[in-house]
Amino acid sequence: MKFIVLTLFPEMFAPVRESILKRGQNSGAIDINLVNFRDYALSKHKNVDDIPYGGGVGMVLKPEPIFTALRDLPPTEGNRKIILLSPQGRVFNQQIAVDYSCVDELTLICGHYEGFDERIRNLADDEISIGDYVLTGGELAAMVVIDAVARHVPGVLGRDSSADDDSHSQGLLEYPQYTRPYEFEGMRVPEVLISGHHLKIDMWRRKEAIKKTFLRRPDLFSVLEFTSADYILLEELAIDYPEINKFRVKWEHLKPLQKRRKNNKSSNKASDV
Ligand code: ADE
Repeated sequence: MKFIVLTLFPEMFAPVRESILKRGQNSGAIDINLVNFRDYALSKHKNVDDIPYGGGVGMVLKPEPIFTALRDLPPTEGNRKIILLSPQGRVFNQQIAVDYSCVDELTLICGHYEGFDERIRNLADDEISIGDYVLTGGELAAMVVIDAVARHVPGVLGRDSSADDDSHSQGLLEYPQYTRPYEFEGMRVPEVLISGHHLKIDMWRRKEAIKKTFLRRPDLFSVLEFTSADYILLEELAIDYPEINKFRVKWEHLKPLQKRRKNNKSSNKASDV
């Protein structure tokens, strides 16, 4: 997968040449190209910004350098998406990262100064914000997008790791992880993790992930979809966290049939008396 970044500050992108992204580039899984669109400025002084029409403070990015830089990109054989980084965009998330990882070429345009000339927006397929706050430019946002997208490109994460278990990958926060030593400053690793019982470990992890999501991100919890295997875990959680019962309709219908029959019988009996 190819990333192309249009920026006035290519030196800011040193972090994408390190660690996992560096390995991904060395293996050829991803390619990150930086284009300084100041090189496409038309004036003698290479101006890329100008004062706003109608007055006001700050400078606005001119359209010509960005239009020309984009037109000068080599043609792509696959599909290309052009993304504008801006605080006005839709808020980036894991699903968008997964979707973009299926594109052959992702071009990211980084703004700076007070904003873009509105006509630049006509070039973009999408406008992305990395959160409801304003950065001094789109560069940090572009690096966030590159990093989150690249994790889903085959060959970027090592053979032993996968993005499937990441927090947010199934709408859940990730379960707690531990490594050696078994005991550190009086704090022990949960027994189940050293039991060697894979089914129990999977169930424990699923329960902890559901619990963490409920406690920290009720917004994510409220849209989760559960399976029948989750029924018992959720009933256990309801004992420790009765507040979770307000979402009971989300899992009640998953009650195993046998249990439902048993309960019906006992309630029938009660009414017989
Ligand atoms: N540029 C400035 N602020 C930004 C944000 N929050 N997201 C993306 N690009 C930006």
